[in-house]
Amino acid sequence: MLLPLNDWLPQAPLEPLHLDWLTAAGIEVAILRLDQIDPLISGNKWFKLIEHLHAADQAGADGIISLGGAHSNHLHALAAAGKRFGFNTLGLLRGHPQDTPTVKDLQDFGMQLHWLGYGGYRARHEPGFWQPWQAQYPTLHPVPEGGGGLRGARGCMQLRDQVRERLAGLGWNDYDGWWLACGTGTTLAGLVLAEAGEHPVYGALAVPGDHGVAHQIEAIVGGGEPAYELFDACRGGFAKVDSLLLEFIEETEQASGIPLEPLYTGKALLALKQQIEARRFPQGTRLIFIHTGGLQGRRGFSSKH
Ligand SMILES: Cc1ncc(COP(=O)(O)O)c(C=O)c1O
Repeated sequence: MLLPLNDWLPQAPLEPLHLDWLTAAGIEVAILRLDQIDPLISGNKWFKLIEHLHAADQAGADGIISLGGAHSNHLHALAAAGKRFGFNTLGLLRGHPQDTPTVKDLQDFGMQLHWLGYGGYRARHEPGFWQPWQAQYPTLHPVPEGGGGLRGARGCMQLRDQVRERLAGLGWNDYDGWWLACGTGTTLAGLVLAEAGEHPVYGALAVPGDHGVAHQIEAIVGGGEPAYELFDACRGGFAKVDSLLLEFIEETEQASGIPLEPLYTGKALLALKQQIEARRFPQGTRLIFIHTGGLQGRRGFSSKH
């Protein structure tokens, strides 16, 4: 699958985030706008896919098979990349056929879909899950849910270089840490690898604490002195929203002009506000907040709630 992997390295803007609660606490935040790298292949998704696509290329595959839900940002970016760069994509979906804006896009981008039901989808972690799919589609390379694992993390390591290159533009010579939403923890693990202990990485958990995120991160970065910290940000469960969160998102969008979505970036920023109010960070702290994208998923969300 001849890919322009070295030709297309999307660059994300790094902008100061001006919000009254940051100013009041004397804390500076710069936001890395991964939501702006591309109209379709947006957010952290492309970075998590890069190394998987390299591996597929090396294996001589002509496409990718992967998994996700009916609002999946990962499948959306994968299908868009397949369409743009001319490789085949096959999505294994959780649950039973349903029409969401995301599913419609997947079909429009030419992704072939198989619905696994709920039990079938739960089996994705079992050994041998991929065997029948690989037998049926031997030319497709399997990529784990969300583009995770070590390959997913390695693709995110370059985010540190992008930020370092742009610091001078903000008038900063350094920063004190990263703050970002975690689903599988893959993006955070990539930053921990890239930082090699130089700066801490703070993860706002968009999923409940029993989802094994810490375990998945350890599997990628290894044990030893933890160079990261996780904070509960899920507000009662993945994809659960409440009026405080929705009001916070609306106010923040109005004040900053930056679009947020409620599942990841909205929850992550609200958790940061709460930690700052609890004086977790001293005055003068400079943080890099990653906007991990996901705005396409908002469409299905607003029609559901
Ligand atoms: C918009 C968005 N932000 C953050 C994440 C979390 O990234 P990770 O799974 O690498 O922790 C995801 C997906 O899981 C996502 O879709």
